[in-house]
Amino acid sequence: MPTGKYIVIEGGDGTGKTTQADMLQKHLESQDINVIHLKEPGGSPVAEAIRSVIVDGTLPRTPMTNILLFTANRHELWHDRIKPALEAGTWVIATRNYWSTLVYQGHGEGVSESIITAITATFTEQAYMNPDYGFILSLDDLATSKDRISERGALDKPDTFESKGTDFQQRIHDGYLAIAETYHLPIISASQPIEVVAEAIRDQLHI
Ligand code: TMP
Repeated sequence: MPTGKYIVIEGGDGTGKTTQADMLQKHLESQDINVIHLKEPGGSPVAEAIRSVIVDGTLPRTPMTNILLFTANRHELWHDRIKPALEAGTWVIATRNYWSTLVYQGHGEGVSESIITAITATFTEQAYMNPDYGFILSLDDLATSKDRISERGALDKPDTFESKGTDFQQRIHDGYLAIAETYHLPIISASQPIEVVAEAIRDQLHI
């Protein structure tokens, strides 16, 4: 049986990753492809428990602790969910991957790329770090991102990263552009209508 394809949708907060992943899942299912949608951080019982610590902005911690939490989370997700699904021929759409750590903890919190890459390589596998397809949703305008985050009420409770100031959000935005270049990831403008973004994603997959 052929292995499933691993597709990663990346991008800053409020860029519409979940909406696009859901739409892509429906499209693939309409072509009789078995597909699951998983979110980082999260995706397995222990990963969900780790997620609740990660997003709790009332728990101060160092950037390195964040990296270790995200890495523990993805170690579980890879071995417990993604790898078995791919081996069983199921396609996996994941919102986020270790590229998020390179952007948020690297560009955002100042940890070096080599540390993040080395830790990720130790606790995942090459197939995790090199998905079949990966692309980045990017908003041209940071204000739109903030509006979208605010619409879902996320700014009412202190989330670790979403509620950080404009400087941090700008570093995330610029970080994604840098990662796109280094890792040859196509950038899709998330400022376009939802259907247009969905079509651009399908074009990338040639489906
Ligand atoms: P989410 O909103 O996409 O569920 O992710 C929760 C927050 O965690 C979001 O603000 C992005 C941040 N994050 C990191 O800082 N590093 C990471 O490696 C990942 C996966 C997410």
